[in-house]
Amino acid sequence: MGKLGGKVAVITGGSDGMGLATAKLFAREGAKVIITGRDQARLDAAAQGIGNGADAIGCDISKMADIEALRAFVERKHGRVDIIFANAGAARPNMFEHMSEEEFDFTIACTFKGTYFTVQKLLPLMTSGGSIVLNTTTLSTKGMPYVSVYSAGKAAVRSLARSLTAELIDKGIRVNAMAPGYIDTDQARKSGVSEEMIQQTKTQVHAQIPMHRSGTVDEIAKAVLFLASDDSSYLTGSELCVDGGWNQV
Ligand SMILES: NC(=O)c1ccc[n+]([C@@H]2O[C@H](COP(=O)([O-])OP(=O)(O)OC[C@H]3O[C@@H](n4cnc5c(N)ncnc54)[C@H](OP(=O)(O)O)[C@@H]3O)[C@@H](O)[C@H]2O)c1
Repeated sequence: MGKLGGKVAVITGGSDGMGLATAKLFAREGAKVIITGRDQARLDAAAQGIGNGADAIGCDISKMADIEALRAFVERKHGRVDIIFANAGAARPNMFEHMSEEEFDFTIACTFKGTYFTVQKLLPLMTSGGSIVLNTTTLSTKGMPYVSVYSAGKAAVRSLARSLTAELIDKGIRVNAMAPGYIDTDQARKSGVSEEMIQQTKTQVHAQIPMHRSGTVDEIAKAVLFLASDDSSYLTGSELCVDGGWNQV
């Protein structure tokens, strides 16, 4: 039996990137995993590679009806959830002067609001011993052009980890944040950032990171496993920075 034997884990945004790597590791450690995302074809393909009977449920975290349907599925199938990795996130980056209300609302819905209500709706299914991990970012405490709304949305998620820690401690539920630094995924490409800008940013950021490289999704998955499992039994309210030292020096 692995570190998560017998546990039920919901991973939002589990069809790609860090969420998918975490889902695979959780399944190897014995968890029954439910992944979510918006693109059903991508979800189904991802579920095949996770194993251990993983389920893939279409759920856009910016839509309350989708979150309710996710909760209903988890309740019907398992009757409970032991681990929530609130990982899904997306952004429409733009310069402050040009940020539209639509871009602002999309990014907040896909960071803070979506995370908030996903955890709220799944919480009644969680009992003592549960662990909630919220995906934040190094950028919630670092200034970078184009991502003012995204960074603020993630800073709000960091704040939520503190509030939930205080609210849920008496229920025996731990809440922690995991702050990735610069991780090798397709997130920026999917947000419409040009290849030229991606390469330029990567060069600049690598120069700032003490380890001089991007992180991998597998390095993130191992950190999430630590926070989700009993290995971190005395951690709650904390933020684990997995950033090659980017924000630490
Ligand atoms: N990459 C980085 O350097 C970095 C750094 C710090 C933090 N993060 C955060 O880490 C998390 C994972 O990002 P990633 O880099 O692994 O990106 P990714 O490879 O693009 O994966 C994102 C996942 O989230 C899903 N998703 C996006 N918007 C969603 C929504 N509204 N509702 C439900 N699912 C949604 C995507 O599937 P669909 O598109 O099919 O919905 C996909 O499964 C995000 O919260 C991101 O902000 C990333």
